[in-house]
Amino acid sequence: MLGPVILAASRSDTMRRFISAAPGTKQVVDRFIAGETVEQVVPIVKDAAGKGLEVTLDVVGEDITTPEQAAAARDAYLELIGRLKELGLGTKAEMSVKLSMFGQSLDGGHELALANVRPVVEAAAVIGTTVTLDAEDHTTLDSMFTIHEELRKDFPQTGCVIQAYLFRTEDDARRLAAAGSRVRIVKGAYKEPASVAYQDRAEIDKAFVRVIKILMDGQGYPMIGSHDPRLIAITQELGRKAGRKLDEYEFQMLYGIRSDEQIRLAAEGHRMRVYTAYGTDWYGYFMRRLAEKPANLLFFGRSILTK
Ligand code: FDA
Repeated sequence: MLGPVILAASRSDTMRRFISAAPGTKQVVDRFIAGETVEQVVPIVKDAAGKGLEVTLDVVGEDITTPEQAAAARDAYLELIGRLKELGLGTKAEMSVKLSMFGQSLDGGHELALANVRPVVEAAAVIGTTVTLDAEDHTTLDSMFTIHEELRKDFPQTGCVIQAYLFRTEDDARRLAAAGSRVRIVKGAYKEPASVAYQDRAEIDKAFVRVIKILMDGQGYPMIGSHDPRLIAITQELGRKAGRKLDEYEFQMLYGIRSDEQIRLAAEGHRMRVYTAYGTDWYGYFMRRLAEKPANLLFFGRSILTK
């Protein structure tokens, strides 16, 4: 019940100001956000590599309101890629981007987001890595998939995300499961209406399994983004049934969540990529993490009260 309330609060400026200023917030934010700057995130990439993990890096920030902010977001990714290049970490880290941060919701946003994301995808390719387009709320997805298709003409390794809670997703999975594609399936983290999305957790899980099967039986590279132990076990089983070797799909989890399980799966020989978010504009990302697990809210409340 609390999840939708927290997701509604994630869109409120008043709540943003209140929560950002509350004493004790930083301690909880630090669990999910790897740092504020490139220099703070670099040791985390190195540490992950030392544990046999790969990463996908997300510069947080989605509620931009001007083309200048969208250009700054592009530049933040270019700075990150430049630093990874200098340190020779290009093959250890890919990038995850939210097109809203590149201007998608502004006037002429589709073209603006494409123009801003293209140099990032190009720079990533130069250092031997790639970019995955995150999935945001359902109203943005047609634009996201069109941009994905456009980018793949020059950079076929560009990935995208699909969300099990949406009714449309099985069709999207079938379309995307072609040779050379990279598709991340997740449950879905936004507040979506019953007209477009399953609301019941069991229905979402069943849809997730159907999508894993489509991706495993297809020709592309499936990326399974979940911490759910049942879905992880089902993925292993469906991977085996589809005749895939362990390096022919990967698991992905979020920084700060089930870290021991991340290491355990990597030690078993699985590819495990940790979605590592960093930056100063962490509010939207942080609130989605609170919404996913109400116990996080208790921890957060306690940390505010004890400060
Ligand atoms: P579920 O929510 O059932 O959690 C299973 C278990 O994992 C919980 O019981 C708990 O132990 C642990 N857990 C999960 N979330 C937790 C949290 N926040 N805090 C503490 N413990 C937690 N969504 C989206 O809409 N668009 C996107 O592009 C992405 N991208 C993305 C990338 C990656 C790598 C991951 C792992 C997830 C996303 N998501 C996302 C988020 C996704 O939609 C979903 O909200 C979360 O992954 C939580 O769902 P689970 O599958 O983990 O299951």
